[in-house]
Amino acid sequence: MDKKKATLTVDGTVPIELDVLRGSLGQKELDIRTLGAQGYFTFDPGFTSTASCQSKITYIDGDQGVLLYRGFPIDQLALNSNYLEVCYILLYGETPNLDQFYKFQGSVTNHFVLHEQIHHILRGFCRNSHPMAMLCAMTGALATIYHDSMDVNRKTHRDLTAKRLLAQMPIMASMCYRYSRGKPFIYPRNDFSYAGNILYMMFSSPSDKYVVNPILERALDCILILHADHEQNASTSTIRTVGSSGANPFSCIAAAVASLWGPSHGGANEACLLMLEEIGTVENIPLFLQRAKDKNDSFRLMGFGHRVYKNYDPRAMVMRDICHEVLNHLEVKKDLMEVAMKLEYLALHDSYFIERKLYPNVDFYSGIILQAMGIPSSMFTVIFAIARTVGWIAHWKEMHDEGLKIARPRQLYTGYTRRNFNSKIK
Ligand code: SDX
Repeated sequence: MDKKKATLTVDGTVPIELDVLRGSLGQKELDIRTLGAQGYFTFDPGFTSTASCQSKITYIDGDQGVLLYRGFPIDQLALNSNYLEVCYILLYGETPNLDQFYKFQGSVTNHFVLHEQIHHILRGFCRNSHPMAMLCAMTGALATIYHDSMDVNRKTHRDLTAKRLLAQMPIMASMCYRYSRGKPFIYPRNDFSYAGNILYMMFSSPSDKYVVNPILERALDCILILHADHEQNASTSTIRTVGSSGANPFSCIAAAVASLWGPSHGGANEACLLMLEEIGTVENIPLFLQRAKDKNDSFRLMGFGHRVYKNYDPRAMVMRDICHEVLNHLEVKKDLMEVAMKLEYLALHDSYFIERKLYPNVDFYSGIILQAMGIPSSMFTVIFAIARTVGWIAHWKEMHDEGLKIARPRQLYTGYTRRNFNSKIK
């Protein structure tokens, strides 16, 4: 890492020298680790200007709209790879040869049988529970079952957990969907692809032969790749924070699932589709654009804007192409797509959005595709969670491989100064 120096002076005090760090790509960063000992903290709610760690996994250039997984451009991976191969790349840093890929695939399918005890946990939920609530609880409950992979200090345990979670997140997710519909659970097949198994476990019937639709299988595989990782987003930062205390992997992933559920994060795909349905027609768009710009209205254009991208989210571009392909293949009505495309056009020609560099993000088109595939909006963020599990695990493993340091930020205290206590209830 290339190092230069920066000098900080506060009210004419003795200058403080800080290292200026340069990674292999991206902006210069001030190394402020020595500031605390010199009596200063930095203040950055929401971490808008703060790097929390160093990582080799994913790189984003928000101004250029660039997203690289281990250096590979996201559009090349989405169009030419498959989700399990991308999982290997994110976890191990290099593309696998055929032998490595099949061994990796086998190490995941080995865990295709979920412990039956999980069924009892699922059956404790109301059938109309939100699937993200059920998935979050079930993921954390794996810590009550898999005691053979809980020691985070052992690399073998960390590897075993990674394979187990990659295998079992889609199984638990499809169980949540089937449970909410009173349908029997379907287990994955070793001869189906990762995406094919998700469709199979959700939509097949025990009494019929199920044929995976290759167009939908390919579209879902692309969606999984596009959502696999995204640097230090809220849920990945969550798993790094929870994991920094040495917490077990299942509790860490459950915390990440909880963070992803928020409408400002992974919950935006469900919120975006519900917004498009509420807009309903192209004629209603101007009213909703006005609401999105009104500071007194809490309404936000869901699927629009991003903390990092101040240009097109490269994933949204790929997603839009997949959208057209799936809608054409299924010959379904394109009303929502027309509303989405007109909304995108009008927003991108509106000074409010232009000045704030607000563009469609990964969540803007994904809901239209998933709905066309027959996946209900309540399952959209669950699909996102399945895809992002590999990213969460990759960052969690990277953090452990580099040595844990517990995350413990400080604060700007604005409360009472010291005062004596006099009870008013005695
Ligand atoms: C994901 O971080 C990641 O990498 C996340 C993710 C991943 O892969 O992990 O990419 C996935 O979470 C994508 C984002 C999904 N969320 C949404 O689509 C929800 C709608 N978007 C907004 O809530 C918002 O854009 C955020 C939360 C995504 C980003 O918020 P920031 O960076 O904190 O930006 P901000 O709230 O400070 O907004 C800056 C300005 C404000 O206006 P002013 O105060 O300057 O006048 O832009 C406005 C905001 O009011 N603004 C919007 C808007 N997003 C920002 N106004 C209307 N509609 C919006 N969507």
